[in-house]
Amino acid sequence: MCYNNNGDDMKRKIKRKPIVVIILIAILSTFGIIYAVKTINYHKTYEYKLLKVGYSKEEVVEIEKLKNKTKDYLLTIEYNKDVISLLNEKYFLEKNLKTYLEYYKDSDYDLTDVVAVVNVGANNEWYTNTKKTDISKNELMLTNKFYSLDTSYNSDNMVKVSKQYSYGENQMVTQDTFDAFLSMFNAAKEEDLTLIINSSYRSYEDQEEIYNEYKSTRGEKAANKIAAKPGFSEHQTGMSIDIQTYGSTAKTFEEFDEFKWLQQNAHKYGFILRYPKDKEYLTGYEYESWHYRYVGIEVATYIHKNNITFDEYYAYFVEKD
Ligand code: DAL
Ligand code: ZN
Repeated sequence: MCYNNNGDDMKRKIKRKPIVVIILIAILSTFGIIYAVKTINYHKTYEYKLLKVGYSKEEVVEIEKLKNKTKDYLLTIEYNKDVISLLNEKYFLEKNLKTYLEYYKDSDYDLTDVVAVVNVGANNEWYTNTKKTDISKNELMLTNKFYSLDTSYNSDNMVKVSKQYSYGENQMVTQDTFDAFLSMFNAAKEEDLTLIINSSYRSYEDQEEIYNEYKSTRGEKAANKIAAKPGFSEHQTGMSIDIQTYGSTAKTFEEFDEFKWLQQNAHKYGFILRYPKDKEYLTGYEYESWHYRYVGIEVATYIHKNNITFDEYYAYFVEKD
């Protein structure tokens, strides 16, 4: 009996075996398929592709934060160690990544300067790829060698500057510029310093005359370093003023206490030195110790503290896209 029972058990076990095998195969196949699908899907990810190009895991984490369009671009070029350095640049703009990399290859600038140059468009020849000034930005509108005003543009909020504050008869600035100048004038006066507006609003035609005069007396190359072509001058915005004091000239203004005071204080009233020393590669103009631009206190303070030009500020904070 016992033997017979054991025999029945054996038979049942033998019968069950194929089912166990089938279940095992099914489980293994399922895992295999899941693994294969996962692998195929992983190979489609940016992480996998970027690692393949040569970026480290840490670098991939940084690159993953960029737009797909930018990542697609990075997959078309060889591994480039400068990518991560660029991402960490203070004024890095994603839309410019390709241009930064291409420009850096053939330039003597460091990465920080490359970012600045490309952001302001100065990797292009001056006066090429020009756009219209966005006048809706008000005191933050940009006029430089790449942004121009219409021939007929002038602010509808201009005031005449009294002779008490200026040289010449017809000095005009925007109301906000005048209010800010007045506060600055009074503050300087308290320290026995006198700020005099030597040039302010200039119409397209005024600027044309000035530019042509420089061009005919000094030649085009020299003229371009000191005067804007008509339409491209900030003076047409009514928010730029050339400041002098008793006895100073354009050449000597920086030796006067008024200039030194402006260096320390102009931003507190919303003005910036628009064409600073050693920034010609960004502004397109030689250093002008006398030319100040009204941009409002907050922006002027940022620009002053961070030692950047208005062109850079505009590219990064105002224009962005
Ligand atoms: N001198 C400045 C650049 C102008 O002509 O507007
Ligand atoms: Zn000026």
